[in-house]
Amino acid sequence: SFPWKQMRLPTAIVPLRYELNLHPNLTSMTFRASVTISVQALQATWNVILHSKGHNISRVTFMSAVSSQEKQVEILEYPYHDQIAIVAPEALLAGCNYTLKIEYSAKMSSSYYGFYGFSYTDESNETRYFAATQFEPLAARSAFPCFDEPAFKATFIIRIIRDEQYTALSNMPKKSSVLLEDGLVQDEFSESVKMSTYLVAFIVGEMKNLSQDVNGTLVSVYAVPEKVGQAHHALETTVKLLEFFQNYFEIQYPLKKLDLVAIPDYQAVAMENWGLLTFQEETLLYDSNTSSVADRKLMSKIIAHELAHQWFGNLVTMQWWNDLWVNEGFATFMEYFSLEKIFKELSIYEDFLDARFKIMKRDSLSSSHPISSSVQSSEQIGAMFDSLSYLKGASLLLMLKTFLSEDVFQHAVILYLHKHSYASIQSDHLWNSFNEVTNQTLDVKRMMETWSLQKGFPLVTVQRKGKELFIQQERFFSNMEPGIEPSDASHLWHIPLSYVTYGGNYSKYQSVSLLDKKSGVINLTEEVEWVKVNINMNGYYIVHYADDDWEALIKQLKRNPHVLSDKDRANLINNIFELAGLGKVPLQRAFDLIDYLGNETHTAPITQALFQTGLIYDLLEKVGSTEQALRLIGRVSKLLQNQIQQQTWTDEGTPSMRELRSVLLEFACTYKQENCRTTAMKLFDDWMASNGTQRLPTDVMTTVFKVGAKTEKGWSFLWEKYNSSGSETEKNKILQALASSENVHRLYWLMKTSLDGNIIQTQKLSFIIKTVSRRFPGYLLAWDFVKENWNKLVQKLHLGSYAIRNIVAGSTYLFSTKAHLSEVQAFFENQSEATFRLRWVQEALEVIQLNIQWMEKNLKSLNWL
Ligand code: BES
Ligand code: ZN
Repeated sequence: SFPWKQMRLPTAIVPLRYELNLHPNLTSMTFRASVTISVQALQATWNVILHSKGHNISRVTFMSAVSSQEKQVEILEYPYHDQIAIVAPEALLAGCNYTLKIEYSAKMSSSYYGFYGFSYTDESNETRYFAATQFEPLAARSAFPCFDEPAFKATFIIRIIRDEQYTALSNMPKKSSVLLEDGLVQDEFSESVKMSTYLVAFIVGEMKNLSQDVNGTLVSVYAVPEKVGQAHHALETTVKLLEFFQNYFEIQYPLKKLDLVAIPDYQAVAMENWGLLTFQEETLLYDSNTSSVADRKLMSKIIAHELAHQWFGNLVTMQWWNDLWVNEGFATFMEYFSLEKIFKELSIYEDFLDARFKIMKRDSLSSSHPISSSVQSSEQIGAMFDSLSYLKGASLLLMLKTFLSEDVFQHAVILYLHKHSYASIQSDHLWNSFNEVTNQTLDVKRMMETWSLQKGFPLVTVQRKGKELFIQQERFFSNMEPGIEPSDASHLWHIPLSYVTYGGNYSKYQSVSLLDKKSGVINLTEEVEWVKVNINMNGYYIVHYADDDWEALIKQLKRNPHVLSDKDRANLINNIFELAGLGKVPLQRAFDLIDYLGNETHTAPITQALFQTGLIYDLLEKVGSTEQALRLIGRVSKLLQNQIQQQTWTDEGTPSMRELRSVLLEFACTYKQENCRTTAMKLFDDWMASNGTQRLPTDVMTTVFKVGAKTEKGWSFLWEKYNSSGSETEKNKILQALASSENVHRLYWLMKTSLDGNIIQTQKLSFIIKTVSRRFPGYLLAWDFVKENWNKLVQKLHLGSYAIRNIVAGSTYLFSTKAHLSEVQAFFENQSEATFRLRWVQEALEVIQLNIQWMEKNLKSLNWL
């Protein structure tokens, strides 16, 4: 029987080096391979337990360093844990080295996970083949037998046999190419640095590249030949970011090359394999005729993220998946931090602010979870890759950086990276480095654990009496329904409080120390007109003021909003609408606060106001409260009329202005403002008349397409263009326009076509479903489609994938009736108890519940609108 019962591997044997020989056949989707693993025994044992999944193992030999005699040995398999055991011919002795060689063959995966293959059609409609890997978190074991846990770091030598016309890439630079018989070539890559298995990668396909040397590291962007012309921006951005990170971390990128590859079919967005970053085409390739400023920001963010992982994650790795947030949270934080430093003109802080609003909304649900939680099974590990690990992690780091100062923060980061290079860590190690730098003046670990070990975040209530500020904290709960969670759960956070006050003619920024109790008092030096707490929303909490204090802030916004920063203004809008959702503030007051918007000049407050009011509109529209919905839009339109009128249909201005234009014109056209639609239609007609060759302004391209897609002719033209376009960013804009159609036959057809996956890739389906659900014609249809095709969806995208989670959230988030709640509930209960218990299922149900509560609270009292 199998000698090991646990999911985690024993620690008696550790791998030192792998030599992996692969010979994939891209057309038959199979590969033959062998792996030679040098291991060391740390304790005496009789067997070697390691991971292997789906391999036909033909021969295993074993050799000890002393005898250097190969012996063939038997293996045992335990598929339930993806493990195999090699029973050694002799006892393995502590401190000794051994070598095992495993010869095997296997099928390539067709699910974009593991060592996978696929075909695509090139520009002349010919079928081409491609193979790539995605190992994180647990799929290296399906490509080769290995110790597939992040703490087992080792070096890798990889050899790949390929047909002549292909390029093969792996983590390290190519060392040699040998011509074999039958037109085959074997490439060998240099021995890697010490690294985790989930970071190993290899690719075989027809590609071209652009390259540039950065102080001895050759940076290259690869794409299929016809798209390599769209790789310039990525290369330029990578070069700048690489230099930035090397300086900031004070550690050179250790490899001689860094490849970024746009893969023609890819399910994740991007992956940080050491030296071989992989991307979806749409996120790496940039075409100045069709890529908008939002596309450029997205590309820059994703490159920054994967590049930051080369230090955070690759060089220093979490010991186990429970600490994934350190990895992903830091990479996400560094996206915004690095871009703000080197591409200041992008105003990337607007995106970070927006991301914080979104993640706090999620974290306020009772179905949320602490970013740090223990995990065992593959489902639990997969579930760690959610937006909380990424964005709450990043938000907490921003809060810490603001509190400690940029210098102290950087010192701690540098210390941490130097100390743990090529090793693996737990989150404690991170906090310890901070404590070393703060020199015990502040216990960072104690403070930060109140945030990482608890779900949710605090609601800070402020009341001003004369020169005193009375402050209280409690958990911010979206769900006020009694019985959902014990109300006395003693949530306590160590909150870095910051505030700005205003009196006379000047504002004064101040930071105060931690609020580490349920309540506290701050003494101001003088009486002031108002106080705004949580400067620039750098802290991860929501602030509620006493009535008079809200009034004073609203008055200031109306008098002169620019006394407050744009982040503070967006923050006030966000907080007051979130509080209104809770019933803590009347909704009418939230609308009163945004009455100043006519004088708003910045993007962040306007997008936040449009998001909050848009959500209310979407809900009202779906329950048939058309009249109120229209009044709401009328009110918002009136407020923003000036700004809308000022917009031109061009790509001019700063990135921030361009994004503002994009949201304002999209708003105007969606809500049928006549001159908006007329202009868009004219642009569309001219574009169509030029057979799609005339350049459209990229930031309003989606809006133009949406209006164009409303006619029969426009729809067909766009669909043709979708099939012939060589630009993924353009195709996405077209798809969004098509999915915004009001014709239910077409919407159904789109979803179906994407599910089939031949003409529209299945990876686009979650995007399509979310877009379809948002509008009245599609919102019942989308859920119906999900129900009808559930088994097929799960089979194609597998349960728990990003895509499935987004599909469920996207097709249910606007339901707001008890009938819909019980229907969605019954549907998942009928799948299985386990499915019903999944966190993202519970989350979807809770969102519906909250919508119901919102309706009960607000629907009848909207007469003031
Ligand atoms: N390490 C992840 C890739 C990943 C995601 C592996 C999910 C396993 C499961 C990578 O660094 C990442 O975070 N990718 C994101 C995009 C990123 C820019 C936020 C993704 O693919 O969604
Ligand atoms: Zn990541």
